[in-house]
Amino acid sequence: MRETPDSKLQADAVETPDIRWLKILTEYLQKCDVRLDSCPRILDIGCGNNVKWNYLAITYYLAGHGLGMPHYVGIDQSEEAFEEAKKILGELVEFKAEDAQNLTDFLRQQFQIVLIRHPDIATAPDRPRIWHKIFLETAKVLDPNGCVILTSFWLKDHIPAQALLEKTGLSIVFSGSNKYPGKQFDISSEGEPLRFDKYILIAKKSTLH
Ligand SMILES: C[S@@+](CC[C@H](N)C(=O)[O-])C[C@H]1O[C@@H](n2cnc3c(N)ncnc32)[C@H](O)[C@@H]1O
Repeated sequence: MRETPDSKLQADAVETPDIRWLKILTEYLQKCDVRLDSCPRILDIGCGNNVKWNYLAITYYLAGHGLGMPHYVGIDQSEEAFEEAKKILGELVEFKAEDAQNLTDFLRQQFQIVLIRHPDIATAPDRPRIWHKIFLETAKVLDPNGCVILTSFWLKDHIPAQALLEKTGLSIVFSGSNKYPGKQFDISSEGEPLRFDKYILIAKKSTLH
């Protein structure tokens, strides 16, 4: 069927971000051979309020694979960043207002998925150093059978994110355009269309050590 502007609008209206993220999880966890245990621990770094969609997508994915409910931890540097999501999700998600540069000071367990959506690497000169520290900590809390899923809305975050993740010793098992990006919300000064989750990286612990 030919896509008309009206049918495109309808498609955008029915596909909420949780459904789009279920497609992303289904596509890339299979492509990258990530097999989750029952009731896996999931860590969402820099979770903001969109954690509400991420949490739903993970629960749909686990339900579809008979894997129970997640133990889901959402971290952001201030309470205000996830205030609205916390009101909706309540006790379903363990929220922590902490600096993710010090993850191992307050997290003792490992996680099968570490989700990092839209890390703000390119916004200021000190940000790459900060995110490098966060990724070093991320590698320490990543389960040996798990993966990091990182998305970016432009190349200016995607490319440094890959370089910084590689510097931690993690292996990049997929890097490229996301098959299921969100809507365009802006355009960069260089003319790049900016879309939610436009690029995706999947990183795993290296098996060579
Ligand atoms: C561009 S926003 C993305 C928010 C959310 N992941 C999303 O995709 O809608 C980047 C998030 O990272 C958080 N963040 C930045 N540095 C952080 C740090 N050192 N520790 C914890 N969170 C941090 C910010 O507060 C912000 O919520």
